[in-house]
Amino acid sequence: MPPRLEVVEGDITRLDIDAIVNAANESLLGGGGVDGAIHRAAGPELLAECRLIGGCPTGEARITRGYRLKARHVIHTVGPVWRGGTRDEPELLANCYRSSLALAQAHGLQGIAFPAISTGIYGYPKAQATEIAVREVRRHAELDHVIFCCFGEDMAELYREALAS
Ligand code: AR6
Repeated sequence: MPPRLEVVEGDITRLDIDAIVNAANESLLGGGGVDGAIHRAAGPELLAECRLIGGCPTGEARITRGYRLKARHVIHTVGPVWRGGTRDEPELLANCYRSSLALAQAHGLQGIAFPAISTGIYGYPKAQATEIAVREVRRHAELDHVIFCCFGEDMAELYREALAS
């Protein structure tokens, strides 16, 4: 059965699901945006586990526990910085979704929530990023439930449009 795909507007740190995805940077040592929010909500134990991992290349993903979050796990992935679209940004962003899903599936997880990776501080054009997110999840998700967690109504509308097409 294909997974249930849902658009949820709001703060990803509040979701009660097997895993939330973090839009991290290659250090995995925290930052601003959703990364900062996840580390604040999960508590210092998350940073301690991330330190042991020792970083993650762009397009790949790593899994940790969720600590004080309702989510049992955090899947940290590193999206590309938008540099005009000529530096493999679309492929790297697609790899973020694929590697996050592969990790979730390897751990037997049934539900995952994604933020709109790279569309904040990393500057990826929102509509293009949304299309990649929806396409990759449709192609590769083998779990029960996938949430696209959007900060703001404009982003949620882009996802609804992409899902309807
Ligand atoms: N819940 C859901 N979505 C959120 C939340 C939240 N609490 N907070 C922000 N967003 P960004 P990036 C949305 O900037 O572009 C960090 O410093 C936000 O509106 O968090 O991948 C990392 O350490 C946007 O749509 O991540 C990296 O250095 C989306 O999440 C860098 O930022 C992604 O925005 C990564 O930049």
